[in-house]
Amino acid sequence: MLKIDRISKNFFDGGNSIFFNSKKVEAVKNVSIEIYTGDILGIIGESGSGKSTLAKIIAGIHNPTKGDITFKGKSLLNLSQRQRNNLIQYVFQDPSNSLNPRKTMMQSLLVPTTYLLGLRKDKAYTRIKDILKSVNLPLETLDKYPHELSGGQAQRIAIARSLLSKSPLIVLDEPVSALDVIIQEKILQLLKKLKTEFNLSYIFISHDLAVVENFCNKIAVMFHGEFVEIGNTKKIINEPAHEYTKLLINSVP
Ligand SMILES: Nc1ncnc2c1ncn2[C@@H]1O[C@H](COP(=O)(O)OP(=O)(O)O)[C@@H](O)[C@H]1O
Ligand SMILES: [Mg+2]
Repeated sequence: MLKIDRISKNFFDGGNSIFFNSKKVEAVKNVSIEIYTGDILGIIGESGSGKSTLAKIIAGIHNPTKGDITFKGKSLLNLSQRQRNNLIQYVFQDPSNSLNPRKTMMQSLLVPTTYLLGLRKDKAYTRIKDILKSVNLPLETLDKYPHELSGGQAQRIAIARSLLSKSPLIVLDEPVSALDVIIQEKILQLLKKLKTEFNLSYIFISHDLAVVENFCNKIAVMFHGEFVEIGNTKKIINEPAHEYTKLLINSVP
């Protein structure tokens, strides 16, 4: 479904001055992987290893310095943001920060529904209410502002927002890292249910091997911007080949 083909991303720290050497950060280095329909691909790695940068490139939030991304054989890099959002959605790590503090949930959900799907307001309302049911939130939630929601509720809204467009692939960037363990489990169960209900594929980013091990059928291990190991979850856990993967596995309590 999605092919990530030798993607690299450099950032330049220290401004754009031509008189000073700005420091180059190679956040993602020559990363390739293929995602098939129905996959839950886990991307695991320590903080700063380039996971979010890669996720944002996949979702079209950043442009890659090099490489290509194709969806069913067509390059995504030439598509409009709207076209890309209809194929791939991105859920941020911190749900309360990804919602506009001055907008009710209804306002936050209405814009993507009318914009991405081109629905009129009445049809958009119906769609939003249906999706709200799918993420197990009561209708009253629509009148609330972000500060009136718990972390778990806010993340359900963020997930709901990613479902509105009917995109077949969702990139979940540490979707449960900001939540406590019991809520984490509930969100993961919800994601599993939604995957079946809407026939979704996920790219699931995490620094927590225990979560990835239980949730993903495939794992890519990211280290200093590179994929050092890719494989089925069982194989990665039982026969890790790379030293960093072994370290990760041994550090799970
Ligand atoms: N917008 C940016 N500008 C400059 N450097 C960035 C930017 N975003 C990320 N980086 C750098 O890229 C590297 C990878 O960061 P990131 O992708 O956020 O890692 P992770 O999500 O694995 O913690 C880090 O060194 C980070 O400081
Ligand atoms: Mg990150």
